[in-house]
Amino acid sequence: MQDQNIESSTYNDAVIRQFSIMAVVWGVVGMLVGVIIAAQLVWPELNLGLPWTSFGRLRPLHTNAVIFAFGGCTLFATSYYVVQRTCQVKLFCGKLASFTFWGWQLVILAAAISLPLGYTQGKEYAELEWPIDLLIAVVWVSYAVVFFGTIARRKVKHIYVANWFFGAFILTVALLHIVNSAAIPASFMKSYSAYAGVQDAMVQWWYGHNAVGFFLTAGFLGIMYYFVPKQAGRPVYSYSLSVVHFWALIFTYMWAGPHHLHYTALPDWTQSLGMAFSLILLAPSWGGMINGIMTMSGAWHKLRTDPILRFMIVSLSFYGMSTFEGPMMAIKTVNSLSHYTDWTVGHVHSGALGWVGLVSMGALYYMVPRLFGQKQMHSMKAIELHFWLATIGIVLYISALWISGVMEGLMWRAINTDGTLTYTFVESVKAKHPYYIIRLLGGLLYLSGMTIMLWNVIKTATSGKAATATIPAVAAHA
Ligand code: HEM
Ligand code: HEM
Repeated sequence: MQDQNIESSTYNDAVIRQFSIMAVVWGVVGMLVGVIIAAQLVWPELNLGLPWTSFGRLRPLHTNAVIFAFGGCTLFATSYYVVQRTCQVKLFCGKLASFTFWGWQLVILAAAISLPLGYTQGKEYAELEWPIDLLIAVVWVSYAVVFFGTIARRKVKHIYVANWFFGAFILTVALLHIVNSAAIPASFMKSYSAYAGVQDAMVQWWYGHNAVGFFLTAGFLGIMYYFVPKQAGRPVYSYSLSVVHFWALIFTYMWAGPHHLHYTALPDWTQSLGMAFSLILLAPSWGGMINGIMTMSGAWHKLRTDPILRFMIVSLSFYGMSTFEGPMMAIKTVNSLSHYTDWTVGHVHSGALGWVGLVSMGALYYMVPRLFGQKQMHSMKAIELHFWLATIGIVLYISALWISGVMEGLMWRAINTDGTLTYTFVESVKAKHPYYIIRLLGGLLYLSGMTIMLWNVIKTATSGKAATATIPAVAAHA
């Protein structure tokens, strides 16, 4: 009876420990595949002449591993951590929460096997075939039940803003996944999209852009709103701004998808609408970024000594940078230069490595010692080293691709006085070679930082023991 009381007065952190460890493991794996494909772009022989190791198959393996395995496990871990502490109750239905862990790992395993074998629906970021899509839908609905079930039985009246972001991310991803994956199965592991032609493209990029907006942004903003104030020891800069930020962001993101389809068969007005909403998106994005950074007011000095806080604040700077660059690239005339070039890949990675990667690492460094009953991570020096390796790696990666992207765009459109093309396509590919070497170097630095993090996490986890955090008896603000 007493055991039962202790059990019900502690948070369910077991599932968070599992997700946190796997986030770091999948981070190393996904980034390693990123480094391999970056090396293949430098030395095409590394495709090894085999279908399974070809760039075309390993590229989706990379994107799925970093976004859904690394990013996904981080989001599960942080949302379960935050929702319990801000609602001051245990997770709703522990068994279902445990199912979300094992189910999600099964999805990742199925992706890791099926993508190199060449099974794909051919939709970017939604490559997985229909049986795996069904499993994703089941796991995701279970996730929603656990998360909203916990909110429903909260002891704190107010729903803290981080939970709004996590909630919007969970609901929207369910909607996006179910609508975009609608397909007619032709056999086991082969299906055809339920949509045709330009509608198919529009649905796909409504999904694709909102995968960025909700999977890679809203969920991570939830992380920002909890972990930045916690690590800085300061309240959120403006709670009112966070509410405006939330509604403005989720409303605007939904309409911006057509900027991925400029100059295509999509009706012109749809493209212009996408462009206009992308420009508007700058305002809520920067509102949120400023709210996060200004939370440091009165605590700036901590940046000198606290590498975890540095991860978080530098991540917000990259968030600001990529959400300035994105609206610019959405302007049709700018897009006519940037589309199909490495500029897009540079933009992606300033968001992915800079924002998503660094804020995840900061939050994991905050949670891991607490989850394993330690005062701090095994080595603070290693965190410091990780920070510099990651930051220098990102700068090398994105600046190399900006230069190579703008250069190739300009080479493609250069014409001689007689109207012929100045450069052949192959000349533009050759000109990019040195920048691909610099990107590979940046990727290697970023990956080495992540590997150090894995070592540090294993050391912290094995020298501590699973901690049981007690739920406060009297509800207070977390
Ligand atoms: C060591 C770190 C990384 C390296 C070396 C790396 C490398 C690469 C390479 C070589 C590509 C293919 C580019 C092309 O087709 O020209 C790529 C694509 C991509 N990567 Fe990474 N990556 C890394 C980390 C990440 C992370 C952490 C994320 C997300 C959280 C990410 C998300 C993506 C996405 C979304 C694409 C597709 C881009 C597009 O279609 O424009 N990457 N990456
Ligand atoms: C205000 C916010 C943003 C806007 C308006 C925006 C806009 C754009 C535009 C115009 C493109 C190029 C489309 C093309 O030419 O095909 C693009 C590509 C992309 N962006 Fe952003 N972006 C924003 C923020 C972000 C952030 C924060 C991330 C990552 C965390 C991100 C990830 C991506 C990805 C993955 C792609 C490549 C899609 C693909 O072709 O595979 N974006 N974005």
